[in-house]
Amino acid sequence: MTLCNADVTGVREVAQGVYVLSFRNPEVARTVLPGQFLNLRVHEGLDPFLRRPFSVYRVEKDVVEIIFQVIGKGTAILAGKKRGDVVNILGPLGVPFGIGGEFTKAILIAGGLGIAPMPILGEHLRKAGKRVEIFVGARTVGQLALHHLKSPHVATDDGSRGFHGTVVALVESYFKEHPQTDAKVFACGPTRMLEAVSRFAQASFLPCELSLEGEMACGIGICQGCPVERINAERRYALVCTEGPTFDCTTIRLREA
Ligand SMILES: Cc1cc2nc3c(=O)[nH]c(=O)nc-3n(C[C@H](O)[C@H](O)[C@H](O)COP(=O)(O)OP(=O)(O)OC[C@H]3O[C@@H](n4cnc5c(N)ncnc54)[C@H](O)[C@@H]3O)c2cc1C
Ligand code: FES
Repeated sequence: MTLCNADVTGVREVAQGVYVLSFRNPEVARTVLPGQFLNLRVHEGLDPFLRRPFSVYRVEKDVVEIIFQVIGKGTAILAGKKRGDVVNILGPLGVPFGIGGEFTKAILIAGGLGIAPMPILGEHLRKAGKRVEIFVGARTVGQLALHHLKSPHVATDDGSRGFHGTVVALVESYFKEHPQTDAKVFACGPTRMLEAVSRFAQASFLPCELSLEGEMACGIGICQGCPVERINAERRYALVCTEGPTFDCTTIRLREA
């Protein structure tokens, strides 16, 4: 884990209000695993004071990329960064996705900005000899950020591109035509989508890991501000920042915020 300043190498808008920020950091580039995140201090001032967590999206040599949607102050400041500016990063943090194991096919399911960990995850899975099928859903075509995803299956809520409906409905219809038994599901996206993925995976007897992206403060297990309810466990809550953000879907109970 590192805590340091990194030089921004670029910021580009890749979909409506969605930006990719890249910065140079050889240590993170060398050590980060799919599903891990970085806690970024977005600037030197006091507002916003807290760091903001972002999944690692891609790594190219020494350069690390995150992808984010502008939803508030922190992400607006990040979107305004220029080449040569600095971001202060803490990470890589959190438990990565489990890409080892017996399965031969990986089913990646992303809703909205849930695409964030998917390019790096797909790359590591392919290197591990797994076949990868990726499903991406968004409200409408303008919100799709499909760069760096290989042959994605696409769903939009309004039918403006691909399957008309939710990404989970798309996965269900794909499975009807191509039943899979030797697969593992990896998903990231809004809570309601993750609940639907979890129900689908359990009904299909497939192992499934979910990446949770609720709000966080410290990112390192100190503030206790990121609980998720556990199922059948001695401790009732797990901390998303240190015990996640990736969880086996059978071990947690999700709640819509
Ligand atoms: C492990 C982890 C990984 C993440 N990875 C990514 C990523 O790769 N790309 C990305 O775009 N976002 C990601 N997020 C969410 C991201 O951290 C928030 O969008 C960001 O902190 C918002 O900061 P802000 O200052 O712009 O918004 P704020 O001003 O802090 O908030 C604006 C509004 O958005 C709400 N909000 C803030 N954070 C979240 C959230 N996580 N979920 C739902 N509503 C929220 C606030 O309650 C408020 O209403 C991740 C979160 C976690 C915990
Ligand atoms: S964010 Fe502080 S304990 Fe998880």
